[in-house]
Amino acid sequence: MPTPVKSVLPVVLLGCGGVGRYLLRHIVSCRPLHANQGVAIRVVGVADSSSLLVADDVHSSGLDDALLTHLCAAKAAGSPLSSLLGQVSGNYQLFRNPEARSKVIDAATKLGRTTGLVLVDCSATYDTASLMKDAVDHGCCIVLANKKPLTGPYEDFQKLVSNFRQIRFESTVGAGLPVIASVTRIIASGDPVSRIVGSLSGTLGYVMSELEDGKRFSEVVKTAKSLGFTEPDPRDDLGGMDVARKALILARLLGQQISMDNINVESLYPSELGPDAVSTEDFLESGLVQLDRSMEERVKTASSRGNVLRYVCEIGSKGCQVGLKELPKDSALGRLRGSDNVVEIYSRCYESSPLVIQGAGAGNDTTAAGVLADIMDLQDLFQRTA
Ligand SMILES: NC(=O)c1ccc[n+]([C@@H]2O[C@H](COP(=O)([O-])OP(=O)(O)OC[C@H]3O[C@@H](n4cnc5c(N)ncnc54)[C@H](OP(=O)(O)O)[C@@H]3O)[C@@H](O)[C@H]2O)c1
Ligand SMILES: *[C@@H]1O[C@H](CO)[C@@H](O)[C@H](O)[C@H]1NC(C)=O
Repeated sequence: MPTPVKSVLPVVLLGCGGVGRYLLRHIVSCRPLHANQGVAIRVVGVADSSSLLVADDVHSSGLDDALLTHLCAAKAAGSPLSSLLGQVSGNYQLFRNPEARSKVIDAATKLGRTTGLVLVDCSATYDTASLMKDAVDHGCCIVLANKKPLTGPYEDFQKLVSNFRQIRFESTVGAGLPVIASVTRIIASGDPVSRIVGSLSGTLGYVMSELEDGKRFSEVVKTAKSLGFTEPDPRDDLGGMDVARKALILARLLGQQISMDNINVESLYPSELGPDAVSTEDFLESGLVQLDRSMEERVKTASSRGNVLRYVCEIGSKGCQVGLKELPKDSALGRLRGSDNVVEIYSRCYESSPLVIQGAGAGNDTTAAGVLADIMDLQDLFQRTA
């Protein structure tokens, strides 16, 4: 006998890039699994940067799986969502910006009052922040892989997390790794978290651990780039801003009312070699090697003290820092090799032996899996009262 459907979760997805498309694929391929658990995810809308595809009647049905699959293929081929119009028939309508935005709010208003709605942010822009806040106002749940709405003004963060049971943002820190959930559980148990130290960039984790073998910084960065570990311009990783955003989310979770300006971020390149002064090619060709000597010295100094250098964020009573730090070779962070993320959480219960979370901290598939787990985690708020 089929399991009765206990929860239907209507979802609107903002962003169908690498992560968003994997999410849609996971949703479609997990249908039998979710059905066994009495859960149905109904994708009622999908948006990219220029338009929104939305089901004709968001109350009664979602976009069908054939359409979702087609949509993923079109986006993967580089076409905008609007290219589907006229090509693919189905029970949907398409709205372009700026109308698309008001249609998302329409859906949030309608569904927020009735069945509920999960608004999922898999975009990579600050522009979704106001939509996400509106959704919260309408009683909707929100799930984010996008860090930016949570790292703007403190008031925005406060607003977004104001109904803490209705927001999930696990994938913003460490992709699919349960970092936010672990910290939240420790806090809820009344065990005060005193310190979090984390290596939250796969790129910088790889680079710093390779330096221990005596390799040159410039060579390691170029290898990382050729392995696809870095952004197209490696300075986007070496500057530390992405780590700083994750650190800010963790610091705010611990109750620190701070902003990006309050975080000390150590960049691994000087401003003279920044994107305004030097092209990507020149940076790779002649800029990077200028950094080899000083990095080699720092690595040697650390090693002479039995330590290794790691690029970490540290959140504690003294606020939040992001940069290079000497750490014991035999600690979880010191043992790190390759591109894994590692997070050490210290509290009263985890004082001398911290809680350690380690594993792949990036990738479209892993990140999307984290987002899907976040959506599933909301199912009890969507129970049908039969
Ligand atoms: N990939 C990872 O390993 C990873 C790990 C952790 C967290 N994340 C986070 O996950 C998010 C998504 O990453 P990604 O790699 O999938 O990025 P991406 O490939 O750049 O995709 C971003 C998507 O957002 C859409 N978009 C832009 N502005 C929008 C708007 N105003 N409203 C709705 N959609 C909009 C883009 O539309 P167009 O298609 O029209 O450009 C695109 O489809 C990012 O915030 C990233 O930091 C990623
Ligand atoms: C994630 O998806 C984007 C966009 O499709 C792609 O460029 C990138 O290579 C993917 N990343 C990985 C690690 O597969």
